Amino acid sequence: MRHLLSAADLDAGTANALLDTAERLKEALLGREVRKLPTLRGRTVVTMFYESSTRTRASFEIAGKWMSADVVNVSASGSAVSKGESLRDTALTLAAMGTDCVILRHPASGAAHRMSEWVGAHVVNAGDGMHEHPTQALLDAATLRERLGSLEGRRVTIVGDVLHSRVARSNVALLHTLGARVHLVAPPTLLPTGVTAWPVTIGHDLDAALPGSDAVMTLRVQEERMHGGFFPSAREYAIGYGLSEPRAARLPEHAVVLHPGPMLRGMEISAAVADSSRAAITSQVSNGVHVRMAVLYHLLASQEEES
Ligand code: NCD
Repeated sequence: MRHLLSAADLDAGTANALLDTAERLKEALLGREVRKLPTLRGRTVVTMFYESSTRTRASFEIAGKWMSADVVNVSASGSAVSKGESLRDTALTLAAMGTDCVILRHPASGAAHRMSEWVGAHVVNAGDGMHEHPTQALLDAATLRERLGSLEGRRVTIVGDVLHSRVARSNVALLHTLGARVHLVAPPTLLPTGVTAWPVTIGHDLDAALPGSDAVMTLRVQEERMHGGFFPSAREYAIGYGLSEPRAARLPEHAVVLHPGPMLRGMEISAAVADSSRAAITSQVSNGVHVRMAVLYHLLASQEEES
């Protein structure tokens, strides 16, 4: 694997290899007081975040540090980007310093792909506009595997703002590759026009979808990408599409609740459901570190070991 730009690029073999590595790394670090592996000693990883982030950025940094890489964080504010430097010039500057891997989050769809054409370093897409967020899909799959076992034939309902969600796009691609059946539930205004070509079923009734779901993934309503009224009010959104306690009670006993974060409690998901035992939201965050370690390992270390 040279870059990780899109979950749609991952075949089942590669995706499962990444998930297996993440699982092994998790086991290896379990209960250890000193969480430090020497694997990426001497390698330099740069995170470039042009959009806000708490968990993605921190978990890439922790993942790199737990593997002994030197991790440098660059953000748009506080860097020469705020003086008007282009993405390409910033990328070439970082490449000239000997960066081995660039982790990029950018508001433009396709930014990570462009970056991979400009620099010799490995590139990981940490979210490009409304397009993809492949490590989120991998950590979601890791969490579902942990709770449910194999994803083959499992029914995953994704509910909410599919239109603006790179998390949804990456999850649809990866879950399909891993053999799960994906059902989308959203207001018609929050579904992309091309959605009928996706490998999913589509509905608008969350109550009807829940009893047959092995997992439900609630998406954040992404106001920052909305220009205009996509639904009447937060209250009406919550009534139609929020995962409330009575709604969650319609899920089968074993079903898992996911949310990529950040959550808008009371709107997309009630506090009681988010904090319930069927919610795997903090496991998603923990698995995010191991999955990102696995990605860095497969990009930077595995070929070296093979040779
Ligand atoms: C997501 C993102 O930024 O795409 N957050 C994350 O990485 N966990 C989801 C979101 O912001 O809605």
